Amino acid sequence: MASKQSLNAPEFLIFIFFTATLASAQLSSTFYDNSCPSAFRIIQSTVRAAIYKEKRMGASLLRLHFHDCFVNGCDGSILLDDTTSFTGEKTAGPNNNSLRGFDVVDTIKANVEASCTQVVSCADILAIAARDSVVALGGPSWTVQLGRRDATTASFSQANTDIPAPTSDLSTLISAFSKKGLSTTDMVSLSGAHTIGQARCTTFRSRVYNESNINSSFSSTEQNNCPLSNGDDNLSPLDAGSPNYFDNCYYKNLLNQRGLLHSDQQLNNGGSTDSQVSTYAANPSKFFNDFSAAIVNMGNISPLTGTDGEIRINCRKAN
Ligand code: HEM
Ligand SMILES: *[C@@H]1O[C@H](CO)[C@@H](O)[C@H](O)[C@H]1NC(C)=O
Ligand SMILES: *[C@@H]1O[C@H](CO)[C@@H](O)[C@H](O)[C@H]1NC(C)=O
Ligand SMILES: *[C@@H]1O[C@H](CO)[C@@H](O)[C@H](O)[C@H]1NC(C)=O
Repeated sequence: MASKQSLNAPEFLIFIFFTATLASAQLSSTFYDNSCPSAFRIIQSTVRAAIYKEKRMGASLLRLHFHDCFVNGCDGSILLDDTTSFTGEKTAGPNNNSLRGFDVVDTIKANVEASCTQVVSCADILAIAARDSVVALGGPSWTVQLGRRDATTASFSQANTDIPAPTSDLSTLISAFSKKGLSTTDMVSLSGAHTIGQARCTTFRSRVYNESNINSSFSSTEQNNCPLSNGDDNLSPLDAGSPNYFDNCYYKNLLNQRGLLHSDQQLNNGGSTDSQVSTYAANPSKFFNDFSAAIVNMGNISPLTGTDGEIRINCRKAN
């Protein structure tokens, strides 16, 4: 038989497939449709069970995705444990004694591995768990883009510099998000995540004692729960009215000078973002749509794709 001069049809399709895979570092919503279709059901049911046990866990899981994406991109780096020879991100200032949900991520990963071994990345698990958490608490749903791979490294220093602090002014918040390719609009809608979850006294003490753009009955209530000395770890809800419900009350609070963090109230303090806050306070479905678009944008921050990185077996350590 003569040697082939051109590719036959199946070879041609394979050629196209690999070329497309290598050429584009794009995420796709169908990434696991053939390799692990059960992942979605497994992740959703594990997230729901965890939230059923403790409502706050939905907030904690959502925050993990944010803190993952803002440091070296959405690469699962936030999940790596420190070892004697490795310092990860968990003890960086914004994370230490603050991030939670790592045990839930372990359970999700173990359940997914039992169905599909080494197929679904830890970074993608965080993205799906964030969506499922928001939905479970009454918020919007969106199509999660997938195909991220997991880092073998992490950055303690970038976790300290790139995750915005609650003491940030508006201009600092805008530039921290801009540095990640996210717009001011994205920043304001993503901040609506603070409609759920809790913050420690240490993160809002100076606001509730020292600031004037705060409702006085709100500041007295918060001062009672956050003494001038001691009580650093006392918790207050970021949205006092409905901390376990994903709604637009965060923005209504800001209109009433009831933002808990300095950074929260900055979004409605006479600056360029005031009008977006008013829009969301009046129009919850506009907030839901914009939040969904913004979190997809956040999920696109520098993913590892193709043959970069790995699919971790245990989210806490590189293979
Ligand atoms: C805009 C800049 C942001 C700042 C300055 C900020 C700051 C903070 C701080 C200080 C806390 C309390 C942490 C503690 O006391 O331990 C917190 C909690 C939280 N943050 Fe943010 N954050 C920001 C944006 C975001 C974004 C973009 C998301 C997600 C899309 C998010 C989700 C959350 C959630 C859900 C909680 C509650 C977590 C829990 O209860 O476990 N935050 N944030
Ligand atoms: C993290 O918190 C623990 C417990 O409060 C503390 O001992 C440790 O020094 C902190 N780590 C860093 C890097 O700040
Ligand atoms: C309030 O501000 C003063 C003056 O800057 C400062 O000394 C004090 O520590 C602040 N109090 C709190 C609770 O942050
Ligand atoms: C603070 O909020 C309360 C409602 O809880 C309201 O009655 C009061 O007028 C507000 N104070 C100011 C100064 O706006």
